[in-house]
Amino acid sequence: MPIGFGVIGCGMIANFHARAIADTRGAKLAACFDSVPAAADRLAAATGCKAYHRLDDLLADPAVQLVTIGTPSGAHMEPAVAAARAGKHVIVEKPLEITLGRCDKIIAACQKAGVVLSTIFPSRFHYSGMEIKRAIDQGRFGRLTVGDAIVKWYRTQQYYDSGAWRGTWQLDGGGALMNQAIHSVDLLTWLMGPVAEVQARTALLAHERIAVEDVALATLQFANGALGIIEASTAIYPGYLKRIEIHGSTGSAIMEEEDIIKWDFAKKTKRDEAVRQQMARRKSTGGGAADPAAIGHHGHARQFQDVVRAIQKGTSPAIDGPEGRRSVEIILAIYKAAETGRPVRLPLASDPSLKARKVGVGGDLKAAK
Ligand SMILES: NC(=O)c1ccc[n+]([C@@H]2O[C@H](COP(=O)([O-])OP(=O)(O)OC[C@H]3O[C@@H](n4cnc5c(N)ncnc54)[C@H](O)[C@@H]3O)[C@@H](O)[C@H]2O)c1
Repeated sequence: MPIGFGVIGCGMIANFHARAIADTRGAKLAACFDSVPAAADRLAAATGCKAYHRLDDLLADPAVQLVTIGTPSGAHMEPAVAAARAGKHVIVEKPLEITLGRCDKIIAACQKAGVVLSTIFPSRFHYSGMEIKRAIDQGRFGRLTVGDAIVKWYRTQQYYDSGAWRGTWQLDGGGALMNQAIHSVDLLTWLMGPVAEVQARTALLAHERIAVEDVALATLQFANGALGIIEASTAIYPGYLKRIEIHGSTGSAIMEEEDIIKWDFAKKTKRDEAVRQQMARRKSTGGGAADPAAIGHHGHARQFQDVVRAIQKGTSPAIDGPEGRRSVEIILAIYKAAETGRPVRLPLASDPSLKARKVGVGGDLKAAK
């Protein structure tokens, strides 16, 4: 019997969830729910699943064994906790939540209920990141020296105006970092290891009616001593492909979007030829550089397959709750460092208090500049 999926939050990303579920072996889209009934009805009509207009009704449906959560980022916790309590497995869109306290409540509820929890980071399932990870684990980079994540993207004013939650501290939880660059922050810490200290600056430069940053620059020191930078923006026209750059004393690799574009090691191995062939087959796409809907669903499908496998085998998924929490912690540390102008050490003992978060939605922060 396939695992019945219930989609909670039927907006932009839910369309990708529906396509990914269709491409996942052992999965079936059974039902959906949105707090706006017409949104649930639209997804149900497009996919043939059952639409619910109350969360409790979806959670009471025995045909649903797992939910995917695509509500605004600061509204992930309530449906995730309710689903866990109803005994459903839970897949939550990135970021897991927008504070550590809210992430921890989701993690605790899923642990208590004994259900699988996974945070969506599709980039981890692409060959390029996995190839670099394998080379790091094999010691091919020698001593890791520098790890950079560069996300020079562009979002129109219309994008921010398209949803009341976008660009707010309360529901987006942050700007270019928390919403867009978090995929790269996750990849960077997965590859380079934990971050020990950050220093940062953020600014809101090219958008109106939002409270969050559209430019963020951070320098990092990793726990292994290596240094790095994160550059994140939605204010760089026309938007360029995102890059991850990993350097060490005996090797370097650079990823652009989903492709490896540099692969240079002091000691060659047989596997290098396969990587070079992949590089030659490179298909440049725009990724999400300028258009949030230009992302493809294959990464989601691979991650859903991983979760289905974990449920069937009784193991953990590749990206569980604590893994999803890691990037949120780094981003909150960056916000604190930017606000205070001082270095912030990790791990954080608890959620940092952020003045910007208390200011509120929209114009307040701009007025304060
Ligand atoms: N993995 C990715 O590449 C990716 C890409 C885009 C968005 N996302 C994430 O997906 C989430 C949603 O983003 P989006 O662009 O689809 O937003 P969206 O505004 O298009 O859709 C959100 C939907 O949730 C509904 N909703 C709001 N509150 C709800 C609640 N309490 N219960 C049920 N439904 C509720 C809204 O009515 C809307 O239909 C965000 O967390 C975002 O970070 C991930």
